[in-house]
Amino acid sequence: MVKIACIGAGYVGGPTMAMIALKCPHIEVVVLDINKARIDAWNSPELPIYEPGLQEVVAEARGRNLFFSTDVEKHCSEADIIFVSVNTPTKTRGVGAGFAADLAYWESAARTIAAVSTTNKIVVEKSTVPVKTAHAIQKVLERNCVHPGVRFDILSNPEFLAEGTAIDDLTAPDRVLIGGRDDLESGRAAIAALKEVYANWVPEERILTTNLWSSELSKLVANAFLAQRISSINSISALCEETGANVKEVANAIGMDTRIGAKFLNASVGFGGSCFQKDILNLVYICQSEGLKEVADYWNQVVLMNDYQKNRFVKRMISSMFNTISGKKLAILGFAFKKDTGDTRETPAIDVCQGLMDDGAKCCIYDPQVKEQQIFRDMATAKFEWDHPTVKSGVNPYETQLSTVSDAYAACDGAHAVSVLTEWDEFKTLDWQKVYDSMVKPAFVFDGRNILDHDKLRSIGYIVYGLGKPLDPFVTGN
Ligand code: NAD
Ligand code: UGA
Repeated sequence: MVKIACIGAGYVGGPTMAMIALKCPHIEVVVLDINKARIDAWNSPELPIYEPGLQEVVAEARGRNLFFSTDVEKHCSEADIIFVSVNTPTKTRGVGAGFAADLAYWESAARTIAAVSTTNKIVVEKSTVPVKTAHAIQKVLERNCVHPGVRFDILSNPEFLAEGTAIDDLTAPDRVLIGGRDDLESGRAAIAALKEVYANWVPEERILTTNLWSSELSKLVANAFLAQRISSINSISALCEETGANVKEVANAIGMDTRIGAKFLNASVGFGGSCFQKDILNLVYICQSEGLKEVADYWNQVVLMNDYQKNRFVKRMISSMFNTISGKKLAILGFAFKKDTGDTRETPAIDVCQGLMDDGAKCCIYDPQVKEQQIFRDMATAKFEWDHPTVKSGVNPYETQLSTVSDAYAACDGAHAVSVLTEWDEFKTLDWQKVYDSMVKPAFVFDGRNILDHDKLRSIGYIVYGLGKPLDPFVTGN
């Protein structure tokens, strides 16, 4: 029986391996992590991540041919194919800080693989990594392997799933990308072995093979292009507000051009998530390192535009509310970076809430999937570095201004404004009359996702701001 191990049981490692196990009952799949609490959760009824459909997939395969373990050495030593799906965050210190990817977790995983390997291994880059990482990993593996004659074939197999739709994306991917050394016989065999795994459910024409560097770079470029579309439409949302155009109508009109396409044109308070910003900054760093300043500046603008959009939203709220939000209760609906996930990494809600609270507002946050502890941790880290004594001592620097509640009505009760920061479906069907009756007047709604029925809200009596839409007389300039 072929054995697959995966180092990293996070948002990618967990769901991707669960899908492989589901579709390939003849393969044993073991997902590994150094984080015991995470592994315990994968082995429990309450999985460590919220993802629609994931519970069912795990329930079917777990204990059959899908296992979760902290014994990284044992299972890596036994595996034929080892995926590495560890985190690759932006470096926070040293050379390239603020831009380059931190490959410390990757290198540590590679050293473990090298130390325990007594047979040939196919090592698969599942994490998003800078182009040419495979070269560095090959060296780490070969120079640290104590067992003579062991061969490591490295493949790049980036993951394109999006959170919230991970199970659908994995079930029917647009494409599976495999990069490898097709100039070597062992490289070709490794590509064929991984292709065979995916071919159990992915049509062959959707499995692309390229050289290693094209595959590594394609992942960064795919995320850069996706994020660029959002920054592009967000930049236009600002122009729409100044000119009386409606960004939804503009997006629809341009999206019907099949060359442009309709997807990923929803103007928003800004893109979030653990990867878009990180991967663009990494791309920018690589361009800078290669001496391509103009190319680096071009892509960096996508991130700057995203920061501008978050900032602009905060300013719009403050100026509309008579330039004084100090002491006012503001209801924040949604904290996750998008709907159908509990993930808050780089969520625009952090910056927006921070901006509002820095101006003295009291933010009362409700999110259907994000736990109170997570919100406080995110806000504390946003304000101070982790090693700040206040955070270390467990004191929340926003203690007097930040609160969380477990339903939307409680968040809005007594609030001066409601701000929608995540597009959860349940916000659309709230009893908005009931919300209005419980609020301080004039009651404002700032819809950072354009999901509400603005005309209906106006007829109830709200003053409404919809991103990129014609402004109500009450809503004032940036
Ligand atoms: P994550 O932080 O959720 O999971 C990474 C896991 O790796 C953590 O649980 C951590 O404890 C574990 N880990 C780190 N070093 C380890 C080691 N040496 N040994 C064992 N375990 C170790 O990260 P994620 O969101 O799953 O992302 C993983 C990679 O996939 C990143 O490179 C990311 O850019 C990429 N990616 C993420 C997504 C997404 O939707 N989150 C989508 C596509 C690609
Ligand atoms: C994104 C990509 O879509 C995946 O293909 C990729 O694998 C993944 O990053 C990754 O590498 O981590 P994800 O971040 O999970 O997936 O979610 P998206 O649906 O792409 O949304 C990202 C952010 O953009 C969210 O904050 C979302 O609200 C925002 N967004 C998205 C918009 O503001 N407007 C849109 O039209 C689409």
